Amino acid sequence: MRLITLIGAVTAAALGHTDLDTTIATGLRDTRALDGDWSYIIDPYDHGRIDYRSRVRTDGFWMDATPSSPADRVEYAFDDKHTLRVPGDWNTQQLELLHYEGVVWYRTQFDAIVRDHERTFIRFGAANKRADAWLNGAPIGSNSVGFTPFAFEVTDTLRAGANSLVVRVDNTRRPEGVPAMQTDWFNYGGLTRSVELLAVPETFIADAHVGLREGGRVADGWVRLDGPDAANALFDVTFAGVSITTNTDEHGVGRFALNADTFARWSPQSPKLHDFEVRYGNDTLRERVGLRTVATSGDQILLNDEPVFLRGICLHEEPIAPRGGRSSGLADARELLTLAKELGCNYVRLAHYTHDEATLRLADELGLMVWAEIPVYWMLDYDNPETLAEAETHLRGMIARDHNRASVIIWSIGNEMGDDVSAQRFRLKLGALAKRLDPSRLLSAALFARQERDAGRLVRMVIEDPFGEVADVLAINQYVGWYHDQPESLRGVAIERRWNKPFVFSEFGAGVKHGLRGEPEAVWTEDFGVRYYNENLDWIESLDSIAGLSPWILKDFRSPRRPLYGIQDGFNRKGLVSETGERKLVFDVLRERYERWAMSPPGRRLDRGR
Ligand code: GCU
Repeated sequence: MRLITLIGAVTAAALGHTDLDTTIATGLRDTRALDGDWSYIIDPYDHGRIDYRSRVRTDGFWMDATPSSPADRVEYAFDDKHTLRVPGDWNTQQLELLHYEGVVWYRTQFDAIVRDHERTFIRFGAANKRADAWLNGAPIGSNSVGFTPFAFEVTDTLRAGANSLVVRVDNTRRPEGVPAMQTDWFNYGGLTRSVELLAVPETFIADAHVGLREGGRVADGWVRLDGPDAANALFDVTFAGVSITTNTDEHGVGRFALNADTFARWSPQSPKLHDFEVRYGNDTLRERVGLRTVATSGDQILLNDEPVFLRGICLHEEPIAPRGGRSSGLADARELLTLAKELGCNYVRLAHYTHDEATLRLADELGLMVWAEIPVYWMLDYDNPETLAEAETHLRGMIARDHNRASVIIWSIGNEMGDDVSAQRFRLKLGALAKRLDPSRLLSAALFARQERDAGRLVRMVIEDPFGEVADVLAINQYVGWYHDQPESLRGVAIERRWNKPFVFSEFGAGVKHGLRGEPEAVWTEDFGVRYYNENLDWIESLDSIAGLSPWILKDFRSPRRPLYGIQDGFNRKGLVSETGERKLVFDVLRERYERWAMSPPGRRLDRGR
């Protein structure tokens, strides 16, 4: 073991642990998947929870009852004929469920071993949207946000032998919710990500973090133990082959710092991940963590102190399959991110919600920088404290899960959120929370610029939203040439911004039906798409300062707002590929431009030094 000098008294790590106290990090732990075919009951009147007078029942579906005799009347049953695959949305598994919004009850049965001095948790990768769970008829917890993990301790309810886990999932959109009533994506409901059984010692490693500080000279982090012996406990850390032993404080939190001079850095060109292992007693938490710094300097984004141009694309979380659906797991992630790499991307914008953990881990491995976002989208009830609380839950959950992901360089607190004072106040609060939770990453949000015209002609886009004061990266969505004007209207349009900060195009795109050919003036044709993309990319090349782009979007995706028969058929057609992965002409238009920009990015080339 190499001698390592603990760098002085470690100040609080860059990432505040205290706000993340609710997490149970599985890291690369061995867990037991409860995935597979679960029984289900569709329940549009919530009959499994409330009676005919809407009073909460005492014998709800969570009892998973079966008749004890032919005389025993039980008016529901979880059987093996009506099953849904978990993980997965219910909408694309049963035709009767495609447009269903409401309650579905899930039930799985599993055998378990119960050991002394062991604690057990049931961890959900996500459920959309609200989930209430019961184990063996006893309530174990509820969760109300649809894209981040949650765990319920079941130490006292898990039985040796057979167990019955019942989960009520309700994907009903609500005006006070996050997201609210209108989204341009499909409201997939269900147990959309894996469900795992996690067994740990009475005092275990609940979470751990490591990252670069002090300009990259120091790799520091923290470990949080949970349990009766968490305070003032000795634990071991091994990172990048270097080991130290140190102890937790009275709160069960221990900090460490290592000289990082010799540790290889993470970058898109060299996505090096280091083994990170924490050991306490007979508990071990393993992670694979990349070390990199991300910052801004004037109008540039710096990765490891070098200017970087973000060649990106936006992604929804849908697999390449005709059914659409909510993707999850490594295979789906690999299919989508591999396509982004083929496009020549070094960056992806994961719209508009927290994507599956497998996607973030794969982005680490493939060397794709990530814009990670919460679904604060369009018009929410911005004056409602409950809505703010729910948005903050989304934000905490996203950062709590992905704070070790080197690929994540930008936290986004939302998209096109309206420009009234309530919305502006709402996003400033979220921005402040994001910075407090994790000052080590850049802050942004996808907003609109004010468009100025001269005699009707678009002449300027002005970035002046007050959020720009706290954002590290200014980002605007624009659809010139699709929702208004013509693609050629972009020529000569100036970008004006109130702050000398990096600026990225977080969205632009046009609807194209794969294989439809015609005149370049005809919308939906491949030919229009080529005209639109060439105008946008030529205009971007003409700008004297731009830090990156993420066109909308990699793949056509299901949306109830896109009904045009024969063209949309329920899909948003702005993808570079169709929902079955067929490449449109615009895929190669962008790929060829990214190939060129990899050597010589747009913007002030003189300042980029390469
Ligand atoms: C909006 C929005 C996307 C939407 C896209 C579109 O800017 O951010 O979620 O799908 O434009 O209209 O296709």
